[in-house]
Amino acid sequence: MSAGMEKDLAGESSGLPRHIAVIMDGNGRWARRRGMPRSAGHSAGADSFRRAARYCQKLGIDYLTVYAFSTENWKRPKEEVDSILALLEKYLRQALRDMEKEKIRICIFGDLSPFRPELRRMCQQCMDRSSVYTGAQVNICLNYGGRDEIVRAAEKWAAEGCPPLTEDVFGGYMWGGRIPDPDLLIRPGGEKRISNFLLWQAAYAELYFSDVLWPDFDEAEFDKAIAAYRSRERRYGDVGEGI
Ligand code: IPE
Ligand code: IPE
Ligand code: MG
Repeated sequence: MSAGMEKDLAGESSGLPRHIAVIMDGNGRWARRRGMPRSAGHSAGADSFRRAARYCQKLGIDYLTVYAFSTENWKRPKEEVDSILALLEKYLRQALRDMEKEKIRICIFGDLSPFRPELRRMCQQCMDRSSVYTGAQVNICLNYGGRDEIVRAAEKWAAEGCPPLTEDVFGGYMWGGRIPDPDLLIRPGGEKRISNFLLWQAAYAELYFSDVLWPDFDEAEFDKAIAAYRSRERRYGDVGEGI
């Protein structure tokens, strides 16, 4: 068993997941159902993300990792990509302004090199300035792909001269370094797939799928997901208690 999994087992005593990951899906359909442009759905999705971050912090969840833009989302029309990036800039500006009040550590996972310098600068500022907060951590996955992350990890490992490998050592090359793996992975929006999210880290995550679209995924929906998580028995390959 890896050190990460031992930590997960120890963290289970509170019954709460220590790390929740969310594929924030369904913004486009949410807008379409209201006869609105997809960008309006992304705006509502951004509001839902702010609400989720605050709620997870209130519950005492240590890590929230959200999928905001995938390496595959570049296939979308340019105006949609631009609207998502504009919302991200808006969020980062607000986060920088409200940082002392919110006290959330913000990390960005993904390759930021294709983004314009101003957006990259704001991402870096958010990460640097919020690194003093040790309570809740929000990881925003941006131009992120699980396979891309694994390939980059292998490249970093090779660049360091191929030091002896274990699962824990290799996991340390991922964007999040040695943070605990997600305990609960939530996908709203009705699809039942992972879409290239956290392929390495989700090895033993409990999966929760919901038909509720992300902009409508409120505190009550989080409560339902956490209740479902608490009802699960995590066995990590061992025999079950009730068997
Ligand atoms: C998720 O919502 C947001 C991103 C992928 C950026 P979608 O835009 O995928 O919404 P649907 O799935 O089309 O409804
Ligand atoms: C996954 O949603 C990516 C994000 C939520 C950022 P998609 O809408 O891109 O996933 P697919 O295309 O339905 O698999
Ligand atoms: Mg989608």
